[in-house]
Amino acid sequence: MSAKIIDGKALSARTREELKEKTTAFEQKYGRKVCLAVVLVGNDPASEVYVRNKIRGCEATNIKPLAYRLPEETTQKEAEELVRALAEDDGVDGILVQLPLPAGLDEIRLLELIPPEKDVDGFHPVNVGNLLLGRETVASCTPMGVMTMLHDENIEICGKHAVIVGRSNIVGKPMAALLLRESATVTICHSKTKNLKDICKQADILVAAIGKAEFITADMVKEGAVVIDVGINRVDGKLKGDVDFENVKEKASYITPVPGGVGPMTITTLLENTCLCAERRENAKNR
Ligand code: GUN
Repeated sequence: MSAKIIDGKALSARTREELKEKTTAFEQKYGRKVCLAVVLVGNDPASEVYVRNKIRGCEATNIKPLAYRLPEETTQKEAEELVRALAEDDGVDGILVQLPLPAGLDEIRLLELIPPEKDVDGFHPVNVGNLLLGRETVASCTPMGVMTMLHDENIEICGKHAVIVGRSNIVGKPMAALLLRESATVTICHSKTKNLKDICKQADILVAAIGKAEFITADMVKEGAVVIDVGINRVDGKLKGDVDFENVKEKASYITPVPGGVGPMTITTLLENTCLCAERRENAKNR
């Protein structure tokens, strides 16, 4: 079998068109644009690229971006003052603090200052808790983007065995909660997992979020599995996923490429989350 390649770029473009209609309707209804504040501290080159793409994404979907660039030497107090001011600003719908922060800044303390209703990344403990409780929330963008891809392809989730390799707060853990919410049987594997290959081979849906280029090889994949590659690894100047794409695609039923798979959906989901936060905030005012 040769897998169907899930085109994240095309889905992302379609989703952005739909989103633009929503943000335009929002602007007409409330007389202001949906607004996202993006905070970048320091000079991490990868973060600079992500932030630039997030701002471009805002511009393409009629969301007003507010960009804040703070120097590497920013103190915890200075960073907290900015986040507090954005938290109180009624014109700001979403606040995103790009991670990782420079050494010396307390990530958790800073993220906790973002009000849950403006937490477009879904990182606040209240939103993480609500996700686990199956309540209304904002969930982390990368795993939400993966769910959008699975839904768009009408891939059955209920009762399927989903195996996630990676247990990060940004991808692995929320991915597990989202799949569990749709009644998958979920296994999370990580660096200490024994018999990783045997577990991966049982997966109907295999999500690779490890951070090692081509870690998932064809002998770890069941015939007909759905393989989702969250990895972005730079090897000799080229982007590689966590999955050995060329060989695994001959066994899988669906597979996401790198680049052009999960990556484009992550930023689009951030923009969707921003619009969702804006609508929920306006609805809360009128309740
Ligand atoms: N760094 C890597 N991924 C992310 C993300 O999804 N959100 C933020 N804020 N920082 C990140």
